Amino acid sequence: MSQQLYDFGMVGLGVMGRNFLLNVADNGFSVAGLDTNKEQAKALEEEADGKPAKGTTDMKEFVACLKKPRKIMLLVPAGKIVDKVIEGLLKFVEEGDLIIDGGNSFFEDTDRRLAYLRKQKVQFLGVGVSGGAKGARLGPSIMPGGSKKAYKIVKPILEAVSAKVNGEPCVAYMGKGSAGNYVKMVHNGIEYAMMQLLAEAYDILKKVGGLNNKEIQQAFEDYNKGRLQSFLVEITASIFKQKDDIGKGMLIDKILDKAKQKGTGKWTSQNAMDFGIPVPTIDAAVTMRGISSLKSERLAAAKILKVRVGKPKVDKNKLVKEVGDALFFAFITAYSQGMALLADASKEKGFGLDLEATARIWRGGCIIRAALLEDIRKAYSTDANLPNLMVDKTFAKHLKGNHNALRSIIKKSIDAGIPTLAFSTSLAYFDAYRDGRLPLNLTQAQRDHFGSHTYERVDKNGIFHTEWE
Ligand code: 6PG
Repeated sequence: MSQQLYDFGMVGLGVMGRNFLLNVADNGFSVAGLDTNKEQAKALEEEADGKPAKGTTDMKEFVACLKKPRKIMLLVPAGKIVDKVIEGLLKFVEEGDLIIDGGNSFFEDTDRRLAYLRKQKVQFLGVGVSGGAKGARLGPSIMPGGSKKAYKIVKPILEAVSAKVNGEPCVAYMGKGSAGNYVKMVHNGIEYAMMQLLAEAYDILKKVGGLNNKEIQQAFEDYNKGRLQSFLVEITASIFKQKDDIGKGMLIDKILDKAKQKGTGKWTSQNAMDFGIPVPTIDAAVTMRGISSLKSERLAAAKILKVRVGKPKVDKNKLVKEVGDALFFAFITAYSQGMALLADASKEKGFGLDLEATARIWRGGCIIRAALLEDIRKAYSTDANLPNLMVDKTFAKHLKGNHNALRSIIKKSIDAGIPTLAFSTSLAYFDAYRDGRLPLNLTQAQRDHFGSHTYERVDKNGIFHTEWE
């Protein structure tokens, strides 16, 4: 009897890998999974519930049981483990087989792996997968990058397992090289910005407005019914409903205010700096995670730096409306920064990104999915070379209609001594971008004054230097 061969393989049967593979099996493909942990391999077979699924701890057996060209996805922690698994697989795979890295790998690692595997004649895709464990099981957003030829091998499977919006799969070929990982990195940068904005909105509602958890929960639930409709607003509302499972009161009040990070937001900021593209709201989010981690310093400073601050008088309902409008404004600036970075990176790295397709596949399955993304998709479908989302007609109207709400909540927060780094930078980004005459003529004068770095003039072409008095 001939041995059963499987359509798709997965290395790493932790919750993400196993769920993704079960999703593949649900869509009618036979699957095989490899994990060093026997229990995980067994769990795959049990959870497959009769569908063709094989779990193993033996790499040789795993590779041998896959149909050629083999399609092997890795969902293992980003970093050295990915290289180690690839090295192991290389002993058994053959020319033309395809390895897919589905983790949050740094895009430069993907470039390196692509070059290495090209030499081994093994195909490779760096694929961003978003949506967490639930998304992996029920339909994630998938951002594949690499060669189009390699993508075609796995396209039917990825389209089948991805989330769908109006019947359209939330997966599309992103571009060459490490395009998939780059797009996922920027997705996470936007995710950081939105999460920080939501944290600041919570702070303002609580400390300026005096809203209790129930009222805050209601505010987010109402926001989610309108133009702010999004996964992150939805889960924020539900978080405020959660009772403490091991003590009294609500869970949110028991969670330590130290935010961790795995690095994708920081990479977005670092890379944006390298390309000279401003992403201040994302920078602010990364900075605030850093400040949050200084918990003991903050507790000590709370005594040393105690100052008298005002207590702005507010109408609760009006404040809830203003915070909602401000969030809408700031979410737009966060997407604008991310998209502007993608546009530039595509040129710098030769990815050939299609921003309309990026917005389209972010409408479902991923963490930053939001009603807004349909308008973002439309904006890039109308003008693929839009210099910035903020100048698209629809978004310009939204920004002009909501900037006053943001100004108002920032003023109140300043008076109350509440930090709003992300909200403030979102507004400053808008104000700076629409300013035809920034004060950086002074910066140029100073550079020329102390270092003869030269400057350009507004009234004459050329490069000038002055012997300053
Ligand atoms: C996703 C998430 C996912 C992960 C974050 C968490 O799109 O599904 O972004 O990739 O949850 O990377 O990142 P931090 O640990 O850095 O907050």
